[in-house]
Amino acid sequence: MNEGLSISSPRISPYALTLSSADRAALKSQRARCVWLTGLSGAGKSTLANALEVYLNQHGLHTYVLDGDNVRAGLCRDLGMGADCRRENIRRMAQVARLMVDAGLIVIVAAISPFRAEREAARKLFCKGDFIEVFVSTSFAVCAQRDPKGLYQKARQGLIRDFTGVDSPYEAPLKAECEIDTQALDMAEACQHLAGFLLKK
Ligand code: ADX
Repeated sequence: MNEGLSISSPRISPYALTLSSADRAALKSQRARCVWLTGLSGAGKSTLANALEVYLNQHGLHTYVLDGDNVRAGLCRDLGMGADCRRENIRRMAQVARLMVDAGLIVIVAAISPFRAEREAARKLFCKGDFIEVFVSTSFAVCAQRDPKGLYQKARQGLIRDFTGVDSPYEAPLKAECEIDTQALDMAEACQHLAGFLLKK
């Protein structure tokens, strides 16, 4: 049950709980998993995560959304946007998601999570098939044009540093389980597509 936890001290001995993720999820008549949405700022990750959660909730499933901005308002408020901080941000989000999956929930993560290595490390925390990477592949041009928070403009003006796609890299997934381009689909279609994909699995 505790595989995937990295033991930081030899004095730590994880306690083997009797119940498993499957035991807890069974009471909710569902299979717990982590749906990990990655993509540029403004790609539509948070909107899609929210719409997907509402959809799953209406279908009687037990969920939670871990959104990058929300988690950065609390648990990760000590982290900036440099590469090391982003790695730590993703590590924490992955660990929280893992605990929530262990609790039997369907967890939807919405975070830029720009680095392949950290996403792969997150994947390794979960049993095979329980980590579903979704590439929200809306292009840089479209995200920059949408610019819902005015951040692309600020980055272009040099007012924000380490902005993803401008002066900080985004490594697109090579083998995401699912890809959604919110330019090609409206949000209702994107949500239907993703929910359909998940419910089929
Ligand atoms: S991640 O790279 O560490 O995964 P995360 O998804 O948690 O990022 O947070 C991204 C959010 O922080 C964006 O939605 C945006 O609102 C805000 N933000 C502030 N500064 C930056 C920046 N330099 N690059 C990208 N997003 C930023």
